[in-house]
Amino acid sequence: MRKKVTKAIFPVAGMGTRFLPATKSVPKEIMTLVDRPLVQYAIDEARAAGIKEFIFVTSRGKGALEDYFDHAPQLENELKKKGKDKLLEILKSTNMDSGEIAYIRQHRALGLGHAVWCARRLVHNEPFAVILPDDVIAAEKPCLQQMVEAYEETGGNMVAAMEVPKESASAYGVLDIKEDMGSMVSVKGMVEKPSADEAPSNLAVIGRYILSPNIFRNLNKLKSGAGGEIQLTDAIAKEIDNPDRGGGVYGYRFRGQRFDCGSKAGFLQATVAFGLARDELRDDLEGYLQELMAARAAAE
Ligand code: UTP
Repeated sequence: MRKKVTKAIFPVAGMGTRFLPATKSVPKEIMTLVDRPLVQYAIDEARAAGIKEFIFVTSRGKGALEDYFDHAPQLENELKKKGKDKLLEILKSTNMDSGEIAYIRQHRALGLGHAVWCARRLVHNEPFAVILPDDVIAAEKPCLQQMVEAYEETGGNMVAAMEVPKESASAYGVLDIKEDMGSMVSVKGMVEKPSADEAPSNLAVIGRYILSPNIFRNLNKLKSGAGGEIQLTDAIAKEIDNPDRGGGVYGYRFRGQRFDCGSKAGFLQATVAFGLARDELRDDLEGYLQELMAARAAAE
């Protein structure tokens, strides 16, 4: 029997410089889409996939993130007194049990690979998921759940993959495909941030992973890669030729729409999409967008 994936690492120690000045005092992961912080979407997705232990790799200045997961008994009492049951329910649904959530510090932002490595002692010798909360995925079945189901068949290491135009490849890790099986591909190489000419395919890795503990051993030995950072992609690529020791690497074409909420344009697009998905906001927002587009068209 394959070991179940019950632990997820959330690397949130990056500096979020693309959102300065906001990220001077607000961690990027606390920024909200409509009324929920990015990190809440990530937690909900992880829970739906069967994750029981949530490990955050944080850094200086992320106190608001830890506070967010504290229970708020005073607020709960106020809402109870005022009979605001719906709000109380929403608030309670964000509570985390004691011991369910752990925080590890990454003392220097040495890259995503290094951030994951920082959590090695909490994961030990079992497969684990990695979720980057700034990749938000709208999907009927949550993305990580789709991947866990696929992983139960394949084992090894699995990365979420998405088609991107080759000109955008330099923003991603890109897969060199061995065999294309539809929703799944087996991988014979991975290149971090290639130029359009060097990109081996248009299938890019985005922020969801299911990884074998061998990755920690590989990270132990890694030196800085592309951009001077310790790259998670490099550690995963080392497992490609290692199928006997629980290795092998698969790309999974998830069903859903991914928003790059680490970028301003992606964050704004997600705000509109998640706003339109809310019954109580749809009519107002749609009306406003239509008016706006009509006014812009008339002005051209
Ligand atoms: P990004 O590349 O988006 O970097 O990291 P960033 O610092 O968050 O944002 P910008 O580019 O300065 O605007 C991708 C993910 O990896 C984490 C980040 O927190 C984010 O979730 N990360 C990155 C770390 O935890 N540690 C690192 O050293 C680097």
